[in-house]
Amino acid sequence: MTTTTTITKPTNARLLILHCVLVLLRFVSAMFGTGYVHPDEHFQSIQPAFRDVFSSGGETDETQSTTMVKELTHIPWEFTAKMPVRSSIAHALMASVPYRIWLKISPTRSSTWWLFAAPRVMMTLYSLIVDFVAITIVKRISDKAQNTSSPVRYLPLLLATSWPMFVIHARPFSNGMEATIFAMVLIGMMDSTTTYRSNEKKTAKEGLKEDVVLVLRGALIAVGIFVRFTFAIFVAPLMVFESFRFLQTPKLMMEFLRRSSIVAVSFAVVASAIAKLDAKYYERTEEEFYFAPWHALVYNVKFAGKHHGEHFRLTHLMLNGFVLFGPAYALCVWKLIKETVLKKKNTKENGSETSQSLRPILYSSFASIAVLSISSHQEARFLLPAMLPVLTVASYELARLYENETPVAVKDKDTNKTSGGVRVKFSLFWLVWVTFNASVTIFYGFAHQARISSVVLDLPSFATDPDGVGSGNRGAKALVAFWRTYPPPNAFLGKDAMKSIAIKEHSQESAERFTHSMKVIDKNNKSKKEYDYYYVVAPETSIQSLKDAFGEEAFLTMKKQYLGHFNVEELAREIIRQRGLPFSLDAYTLSVYEIEVLSSNDAQDR
Ligand SMILES: *[C@@H]1O[C@H](CO)[C@@H](O)[C@H](O)[C@H]1NC(C)=O
Repeated sequence: MTTTTTITKPTNARLLILHCVLVLLRFVSAMFGTGYVHPDEHFQSIQPAFRDVFSSGGETDETQSTTMVKELTHIPWEFTAKMPVRSSIAHALMASVPYRIWLKISPTRSSTWWLFAAPRVMMTLYSLIVDFVAITIVKRISDKAQNTSSPVRYLPLLLATSWPMFVIHARPFSNGMEATIFAMVLIGMMDSTTTYRSNEKKTAKEGLKEDVVLVLRGALIAVGIFVRFTFAIFVAPLMVFESFRFLQTPKLMMEFLRRSSIVAVSFAVVASAIAKLDAKYYERTEEEFYFAPWHALVYNVKFAGKHHGEHFRLTHLMLNGFVLFGPAYALCVWKLIKETVLKKKNTKENGSETSQSLRPILYSSFASIAVLSISSHQEARFLLPAMLPVLTVASYELARLYENETPVAVKDKDTNKTSGGVRVKFSLFWLVWVTFNASVTIFYGFAHQARISSVVLDLPSFATDPDGVGSGNRGAKALVAFWRTYPPPNAFLGKDAMKSIAIKEHSQESAERFTHSMKVIDKNNKSKKEYDYYYVVAPETSIQSLKDAFGEEAFLTMKKQYLGHFNVEELAREIIRQRGLPFSLDAYTLSVYEIEVLSSNDAQDR
């Protein structure tokens, strides 16, 4: 007894410290990672939340400025269509809540950086729930098994080192919200899908606790489905497993009926409450309830493929699982193959209690991934809720790998004694795992389309005063055109600068089309006198083609440069142009140029 405590205690303490360091790194990655994974991380959370929070100022004479914020904030079609497909609850939980907290703490609104950072801090705090659930799973599974260390003991570490934790979970993506809620539902269902014991006498207190958990489950499922309708696809297989467990004896069946009705009632109450809130949010006077997830489902079945490009139908199962979970997905697939195809071999392992208790989460997560694989629009992050089940199974396989491998003895150079040993396969897994997750974290967290948020956050400091004239230039207006980048979120300008800086997106237009639209804007400016300054924000290597396209008709002056912008489309263009990999840093730089369009008269004067 004493030996086990002396051995496990320091390792546990060390693991705890390691976990804390990883969580700290997650916060750092959340607050300082300027990479840009997907427009949804800004446009489905920050933009609508900014509009909601900052246009409801309610202060005395600000009515004009609040309607201004309402009109100027770029809001995507998901929220503005005749049938909006997003519930207001998702962006409220992700960004409105931290914005309101921030306004309480710092009403002076000194720095717009918090517009960027506060939702990310909030999401990282939510992600801690997933860590907590992982630790709980380890405890639950080790309670049942006889051996001292849990068969899924590596789960918290796998989770905390996985790249989605550093990037997707740490940003205002509805996928992170969905996965967090799913983790809570999963832990509440884990026991009842595997070892529900009805014969055991329960005290009244235990019975009550169980019912409270069921009420919570119904409520969480409702919130989950309103956050993303695919939540239903992740929960449904678990429910099927649970019903299999219960529909065996009449007595259990009655219990199942009782439990299901508690969940159903709680679900219905919370779902209609959110639907009522959404009907009010979208100002739907003719309906009392608005079920956004239903419209999202209809939209996805009908149009998603057309609008977002058709993906190969098995992308999730064959590719995205590896993109999101790396080598852990391979372990999980291996376990599935062992359980199904190679059933007869490994019977000892497959019959073990732990293996059985893992079966529902293994099968149900693959069922969910398979169902999502039917959809025409498949992005890796859509699989995020499956991360906890996949990593649980992977950690089980990893522990088996550790136990079945004979360590290769290592000779200590100083003492000349052979001690301990290295498990080659086990160590190799960790090597591949850490390399994979570190590279993807750096790519998506810090490089991919990076620095766009930095540009938007910086614009207020110089855009209306590029020559440093100072306060004399108050009231000046600037037009900033982003070209060949991901769409810029204009909420980061902040409430005040939004009125003096207009941001336009020109995505992948040709240089000729871009110059043409700038000339049209300038022509209109002649009569309307709308803007005092024009800017273009584009990858540095694209600026030259713009200069060529403008020719004598405009001056471009560099104002600011941002190194570390990894732009796949731009790199592809450069590779074609240079017939080789671009080594110049210009290919990885985002630049802000002022454009001075010379009217035809000016040109003749010269
Ligand atoms: C827009 O027109 C006004 C009035 O002619 C002019 O002062 C201003 O410089 C123009 N803006 C730009 C960016 O050329």
